[in-house]
Amino acid sequence: MDLILFGPPGAGKGTQSKFLQETLKIPQISTGDMMRAERKSGSDLGQRFDSFMSKGLLVPDDLVIELLEKRLHQDDAKGGAIFDGYPRTVPQAKALDAVLEKSGRRIGKVLSLEVPEGSIVDRISGRRTCLDCGQAYHVRYNPPPPSGRCGSCNGERVVQRSDDTEETVRTRHAAYLKDTLPILAHYGQFPGVVVAIDGMGEVDAVTKRLLGAVGLDAAGS
Ligand code: AP5
Repeated sequence: MDLILFGPPGAGKGTQSKFLQETLKIPQISTGDMMRAERKSGSDLGQRFDSFMSKGLLVPDDLVIELLEKRLHQDDAKGGAIFDGYPRTVPQAKALDAVLEKSGRRIGKVLSLEVPEGSIVDRISGRRTCLDCGQAYHVRYNPPPPSGRCGSCNGERVVQRSDDTEETVRTRHAAYLKDTLPILAHYGQFPGVVVAIDGMGEVDAVTKRLLGAVGLDAAGS
């Protein structure tokens, strides 16, 4: 099964992907996480990513598509994946469709998390992220353990992401409206593929809605 978890910055894509990958037994592929890892390595490519990410701008398609194609050829992604934060443009969506088609696959569902802009700013400005495993927390809705260490990997660095300022979030949201939202029309041509999911409420409640949309309950049956 290949799924796109779609939605504006801060909609809960990363949070929900981590739960879905456990239940569905397919990996989360987050281009944002992959780019942050590359940036952390200090490579030239990482510095190129940084020049866009730090301003809240989309990284150019050619760089992202190459990164995604390499990831899709890894063994764990051969039976399906949850795409989180990819595709971000219609050319990225078409490139993904073409790569999947080569191995007889196609996107089964685009699960579109709907969250109003006011809540997005609140969620992102309160977010804390583990620099080691990418686990997201929120200072009020899902606080990190009192030890300050990550509850998933025990990493010591649970911090605010450098692009989580209010100004950058507004730029990221504008890029979403202009470049990313048209992807829904692209997949809308395939009946039943795009499913709108209410992204508000408790994290568990949103997970149940997402699993329900792929015909499963919380136990994955
Ligand atoms: P990326 O890392 O993909 O970030 P994003 O899409 O902006 O999404 P976020 O990670 O901000 O939010 P999310 O939806 O995952 O929400 P989360 O679960 O953390 O991209 C970053 C940058 O990389 C881009 O700006 C761009 O420069 C570049 N990039 C990446 N991919 C690219 C691509 N394909 N093409 C070009 N450029 C690319 O939740 C947010 C907060 O809300 C957390 O604190 C969480 O705890 C909380 N929360 C979650 N669910 C709930 C709930 N139900 N109730 C209350 N709080 C909740």
